[in-house]
Amino acid sequence: MRASTLDIVRQAQEGGYAVGAFNVFDDLSLRSVVQAASAAGSPVIIQFSVRTARAMGVDLVTAMFHAAADAATVPVSLHLDHCPDVSVIEDVVRAGWSSVLFDASHLGLAEAREQTRRVVDLAHARGVEVESEIENIVGVEDGVGSDVLTHAYSESELVEIAAETGADLLAPQLGTAHGLYKGRPVLRPDRVTALRKLSDMPIVLHGGTGLTDAEFRTFIDAGVSKINVSTAIKRIYMEASAEALRTARDANRWEPLPVFDAISARVAETVTAHLEAFGSVARASGGSR
Ligand code: 13P
Repeated sequence: MRASTLDIVRQAQEGGYAVGAFNVFDDLSLRSVVQAASAAGSPVIIQFSVRTARAMGVDLVTAMFHAAADAATVPVSLHLDHCPDVSVIEDVVRAGWSSVLFDASHLGLAEAREQTRRVVDLAHARGVEVESEIENIVGVEDGVGSDVLTHAYSESELVEIAAETGADLLAPQLGTAHGLYKGRPVLRPDRVTALRKLSDMPIVLHGGTGLTDAEFRTFIDAGVSKINVSTAIKRIYMEASAEALRTARDANRWEPLPVFDAISARVAETVTAHLEAFGSVARASGGSR
């Protein structure tokens, strides 16, 4: 069932768990995530990067999402990940996506504040929610972002700016990075605790790939209620594809459907493991969008 990102995340906040927000990039990955969440009785957030949304076209992504969400027995919302481009945000707002991440982390504070306020106004006018990022989360996600930490603010500045711009969810820098970790990251659940003391705005953890279950739990206990996972999904999809194609070649059997089934099963396994770590299994209740 279609749902609102904010409703799903608010319920997680009240229930002391986090909702998985998984980046997908085609119909197979989309259906695999939604089916795994349905089987686990877990709410879930589907995310598309700007690059994927552009490549597939917003109308096709929207139609695929509707078909998958309407067949699901759990609340599912559709979110645009890291988007610095207001014209893409306008397209998905018009298409009725549930939420967008306006990525203003490359901008100076005054400009980030001003542009975020404008995006919130245009999104809220159509009932679309906004995740705000003004500190840059290190790492490049599908062409967006930087490997260098350039903008950082105090927790009270973050809360003040988020309240002033009217954003619905906050994505602070928490020591994680997009992509595969080269060494162990210095994680900052203490920042979540500090933000929680100042505001009840839902907090989003980016860079979920590569964290341990115990690290996820520490962040959730501190107050994170949406966790983004992308690289782990892409990686298992590609590894399972390579394996299934090798099997097809060895057997000289060129049937695509068994290849898709093999990929889907592996993606679903990865999603289920994350849903278990996030504590969202068997938490699903009604949708609204
Ligand atoms: P990973 O690719 O590290 O899982 O990060 C995903 C993410 O934060 C998407 O916004």
